[in-house]
Amino acid sequence: MTVPPDPPSFPSSANQVRTLLVSHAAEMGGAEQGLLDLARHLGPQRCQVLLLADGDLHHILQRNHIPVSLLQAGGVFMGVRRAGSAARALAALPQTLLLACKLAAAARNHDLIYANSQKAALVAMLAGSLARRPVIWHLHDILDAGHFGWLQRHALALLSNTLTRFVIVVSAAARDAYIESGGTPGHARLVYNGIDPQPYDGLAETPRKTLRGELHLPPGPLVGLFGRITEWKGQRVLIEALPLLPHLQAIIVGSPMFGQDAELDYIKALAERLGVADRIKFLGHRPDVPRLMRAVDLVVHCSTSPEPFGRVIVEALLAGTPILAAEGGASREILGDTAWVVKANDPKKLAAAIEGVLTTDTAEELARLRARIVENFLLDRMMASLDSVIAEACPPPPRGEGGGGGSHSGQSRIEKSPSFLKKRSKRLLFPRRFHDPGHGLDLSASAGIKVFLLLFLQKKKDLLRSSRRPARPST
Ligand code: UDP
Ligand code: GLC
Repeated sequence: MTVPPDPPSFPSSANQVRTLLVSHAAEMGGAEQGLLDLARHLGPQRCQVLLLADGDLHHILQRNHIPVSLLQAGGVFMGVRRAGSAARALAALPQTLLLACKLAAAARNHDLIYANSQKAALVAMLAGSLARRPVIWHLHDILDAGHFGWLQRHALALLSNTLTRFVIVVSAAARDAYIESGGTPGHARLVYNGIDPQPYDGLAETPRKTLRGELHLPPGPLVGLFGRITEWKGQRVLIEALPLLPHLQAIIVGSPMFGQDAELDYIKALAERLGVADRIKFLGHRPDVPRLMRAVDLVVHCSTSPEPFGRVIVEALLAGTPILAAEGGASREILGDTAWVVKANDPKKLAAAIEGVLTTDTAEELARLRARIVENFLLDRMMASLDSVIAEACPPPPRGEGGGGGSHSGQSRIEKSPSFLKKRSKRLLFPRRFHDPGHGLDLSASAGIKVFLLLFLQKKKDLLRSSRRPARPST
């Protein structure tokens, strides 16, 4: 007699899952902040972090007592750009495979691999197949032509259909682009980012004047733009709006990341050329964003490409400061129906909107939007949703099949299924969606992926042997 499986009990089973979090980026952008929040939430008993590059995230995780290892990726792998050529991506294949083997070895002490960046996702998908572990890809980007090359976005989405359990998307806009790139709709799990409200406690009631003095900020009308410095975050749009607002001063908070230093030189030169340099303070990357957001009269978000989510939009409202967000991406999902969403990449419209907010009473709209944020975009809610997705990816074994698996009992419950490898190989070679005649997947792309996977499977035996090496110790 077969015993029916337990009804899903997501939070309790999530408590037993040991997750290996992987990121190729260690500079502190919004995605990395999300990874840090998740690692803190899971704690050292339930997760370990593996970084493919060194950076601030490494040290912050260590300070938070999260076990973290560095698996330094090679230069060719790290040099592949989101919109780079196919040749460059191909040249990185050997390093990708090597990383996948090493990650597979580390993953054998875990129940789940959770990739937080594109490159990490590619390596994790291959490693998951080798180590026979489910993979979740937390997709923090919009897979569109504005951000990614054709090959990168389609290859990643198609591979994710068969080599991941779920793809977590940060907004409906990110989900739509994922599906447009070939991702399976049922595969996506929408989890909005959530912000920890604790650093904002009491801040909304703190007078701006007090904070301005403490932070050495000038009196008078002041706007702030927060985010890493890169062309698509639109610092140039604010600078181009300033000549139209002669009494306004601005702070630009954030630094270039991921090799975007030239943009900082460009925007500083632009400010000089437009005669507004004396009205802008470039504050660099700051750890005290909540206080700075509270100190300004208005936060502007100026992204010129659709913003996948935009943590800064939520943060401004938690600080009790009005926000003007650029239209596109998740802005409307976060803010809903409001006049505080402005046409993107249009300095004149931005100047008019800034003028409007600074000369009207914003208290009512601010309170309405803040309540919306508190209801939908706080950290607890995000973590509960992530727990559910993790538990769904690693359901408890059916009663009667020697439950209590997971790495804690020595052998993963996934390894206990004798037909697993056979099924997985078949699924790799003949993924369901490739048989879908309505989908119109390009045959050569399909064949290419199959050849790639075939080569990969041929080597599987050797690779598995190497993957049995013990995981690297935490650094
Ligand atoms: N941030 C920060 N210091 C800075 C500038 C930005 O801590 O000087 C934080 C900001 O508060 C937000 C994150 O970086 O939490 C940026 O996330 P967002 O989603 O807005 O954009 P991303 O850079 O991830 O595209
Ligand atoms: C990425 C996106 C940003 C999003 C963040 C967290 O860095 O650019 O829009 O808020 O990830 O998901």
